[in-house]
Amino acid sequence: MRALVRESRLSADMLVLPLFVCEGRGVRREVSSMPGVFNLSVEEAVIEARAAQQDGVRSVLLFGLPEHKDEIGSSAYDPDAPVQAATRAIKREVPGTLVITDVCLCEYTDHGHCGIMDGHDIVNDPTVEQLVRAALSHAKAGADIVAPSDMMDGRVGAIRTALDDGGFQQVAIMSYAAKYCSAFYGPFRDAAASAPKFGDRRSHQMDPANAEEALREVEQDIAEGADMVMVKPAAAYLDVIRRVKDTFGYPTAAYHVSGEYAMIKAAARNGWIDEKRAMMETLVGIRRAGADIIITYYAREAARSL
Ligand code: PBG
Repeated sequence: MRALVRESRLSADMLVLPLFVCEGRGVRREVSSMPGVFNLSVEEAVIEARAAQQDGVRSVLLFGLPEHKDEIGSSAYDPDAPVQAATRAIKREVPGTLVITDVCLCEYTDHGHCGIMDGHDIVNDPTVEQLVRAALSHAKAGADIVAPSDMMDGRVGAIRTALDDGGFQQVAIMSYAAKYCSAFYGPFRDAAASAPKFGDRRSHQMDPANAEEALREVEQDIAEGADMVMVKPAAAYLDVIRRVKDTFGYPTAAYHVSGEYAMIKAAARNGWIDEKRAMMETLVGIRRAGADIIITYYAREAARSL
C-alpha cells in the first residue's frame, strides 16, 4: 500500500555521477576525504563510466585535474587535457552514456581561483572569454552538455553564442545558476586540488542567507539560454530547489556536494548512522523538494539500491 501511495520516487535515470579525471595511465587514487571516490586516469574513467552504466547510471559529470596550471587556466581548453580526452574516450567506448563537463577555471589556475585575477579580484569579462574557450573545446571533444560552475556574469549567453557559431547548436547548457559559497565543497577541493591559495569565493558565489537572489540568478541564466538550471549544494538548500522549480518549471538539477557525501560516509564509518537509509532519505528529500536531476557521488550505490 505504501508503494501505491508514495508521492516522490527516485529513478536511476535522474542520477549523475561526478568523475575526477587526471593525467597518467592506470591511476585510481582514492580521495582521502571522500571514501569511494577516486582520481581516475582516462582509461580508468572509462571503466568507471561503464560500471556506472551497468548499475543504471547513464550520465557522468567530468572534472579535470591537469598537471599544468598557470595564471589564466590555459589547460582548461587544451584539446588533450583530461576532460577532453575522457569525453572522447567515454563517448567512443561507452555508448549511451551522456557526458556533462564542468566548465570553470579553478582546477586550472595556479592560484586556485575561478577566473583571471587583478590583485585579489576576479575580472569578470576576461574570465568569461576563457570559459567560452573551455566550453567550446569540451563541445569539440563530444560533450553532450556543458555545465559552467564559475558564477561569472554573462557566461551562459556568451557560451551559447559561441556554441551556436561553432556549429554546436545541439550541445546543451546546464548552468550552476544558484551556487552558494559553501563550506561543503571542502572535500571536492581535496579531490580536484582547487582550493584558492588566498581569499575565498564570496565575490561571485552566493550568500547562504539569500533565496530571492537565487531566483534572480536563475532568471538571468534562463534568459541567456540555459537549458537546465542547478542549485548547489542540495540538502541545506531544499527551499531554494522548491522555489526555483515552482517559479520557472525548468529542468532543475541539485548537486549533493562533496561535504554532504563525506558527512554521511564519516558518520557511517563510525557506526553512528545507517548509511544506506541516510543516503536514500537524503536523495528522496532532494527529489521531494523538486529536483529533476540529482548529481551525487552516491549515484552508483543509490542506483543499485533502487
Ligand atoms: C568549481 C566547482 C566546485 C564544485 C563543483 N564545481 C568547487 C568550488 O566552487 O570550489 C564543488 C562540488 C562538490 O563539492 O562536490 N569548479
